[in-house]
Amino acid sequence: MIANANAQIKLAARPSGLPKRTDWEFVRGEARDPAEGEVLVKILYLSLDPAMRGWMNEGRSYIPPVRLGDVMRAGGAGVVVASRDANFVPGDHVTGTLDVQEYATVKGKGLTKIDPAVAPLPVYLNVLGMPGMTAYFGLFDVGRPKSGDTVVVSGAAGAVGMTVGQLAKIHGCRVIGIAGGPEKCAYLTRELGFDGTIDYKSQPLGAALRDLCPNGIDVYFDNVGGDTLDACLARLASHARVVICGAISQYNNTTPVKGPSNYLSLLVNRASMQGMVVFDYADRYADAVRAMSGYIVEKKLRSKEDVVRGLDTFPETLLRLFSGENFGKLVLQVADA
Ligand SMILES: NC(=O)c1ccc[n+]([C@@H]2O[C@H](COP(=O)([O-])OP(=O)(O)OC[C@H]3O[C@@H](n4cnc5c(N)ncnc54)[C@H](OP(=O)(O)O)[C@@H]3O)[C@@H](O)[C@H]2O)c1
Repeated sequence: MIANANAQIKLAARPSGLPKRTDWEFVRGEARDPAEGEVLVKILYLSLDPAMRGWMNEGRSYIPPVRLGDVMRAGGAGVVVASRDANFVPGDHVTGTLDVQEYATVKGKGLTKIDPAVAPLPVYLNVLGMPGMTAYFGLFDVGRPKSGDTVVVSGAAGAVGMTVGQLAKIHGCRVIGIAGGPEKCAYLTRELGFDGTIDYKSQPLGAALRDLCPNGIDVYFDNVGGDTLDACLARLASHARVVICGAISQYNNTTPVKGPSNYLSLLVNRASMQGMVVFDYADRYADAVRAMSGYIVEKKLRSKEDVVRGLDTFPETLLRLFSGENFGKLVLQVADA
């Protein structure tokens, strides 16, 4: 019925350390026409996420690994081209798991309709999408901050971190962000109203945390793991909550993950440390979207995206997450709207 040439990027090898271009296979085929209940989506933007590195590994996780030879898994936003699901018509804008390709033929029930008149499409991959949901439920359900608490967040100038910090400020907390480089740190205090920042690339973390958190850390939202987690554990306040959201410093290790040696601080401070996976909150996403859309309209919450163009650049663009070259939510633009 509809013949659309479809460029796809498949997983060709399981990487050791940082992924290389040769870990991917670039193929050209034709997009498949939708069967009953399916929708053909032209992909406009893809979400590039640190989790993709984990999906490339063999082994048990919260979601099965991408199989060798499969198109790489990715969230995305696009426009419906053809539909055999009564809930969608051509021209509708949608988000869903669309994978690293130009067109996706997927079940309609896995898609969410979005409105580009409310927010630009990349925002639906950021604050109004998966990273925003992670920040919202990780902070409020797991971190359980109280007004006046000191909240420390690492990866603070990234997608999840920026939203965590801003939500904590809205909630009346004192917020300290840990990020790499003076430009990112200046943005967090000047533009987003963080109370303080630590440039972990140039400042000793332990001393900086002592200065900025004289009464200890009530909530530590961990996106980074490794030495940063250890330094924050050493500064916990009584009954602190540590949210284990991610550990990007460990994802490309070729040696075992470095665990925290300061974990007895949990005992001394009657503190808790809890992992979270955003997908567990799927039945409450609508509440978070409603709340955060309101904050965006009130100009209390900003959504910053870092958009890079071109499907072919995927292998190198993904690496920006691990070098810290991305500033805000990393999005790959696949086609013009
Ligand atoms: N649990 C869940 O359900 C869930 C859902 C979404 C995301 N996550 C996790 O949340 C974290 C943030 O994800 P995101 O999408 O918002 O990515 P992001 O923060 O937008 O991008 C990654 C950032 O991590 C920092 N980074 C990279 N290597 C580092 C290292 N060795 N040490 C310290 N910082 C490093 C870099 O910032 P600097 O310039 O500051 O170094 C980089 O910009 C990740 O760990 C991710 O896996 C978890």
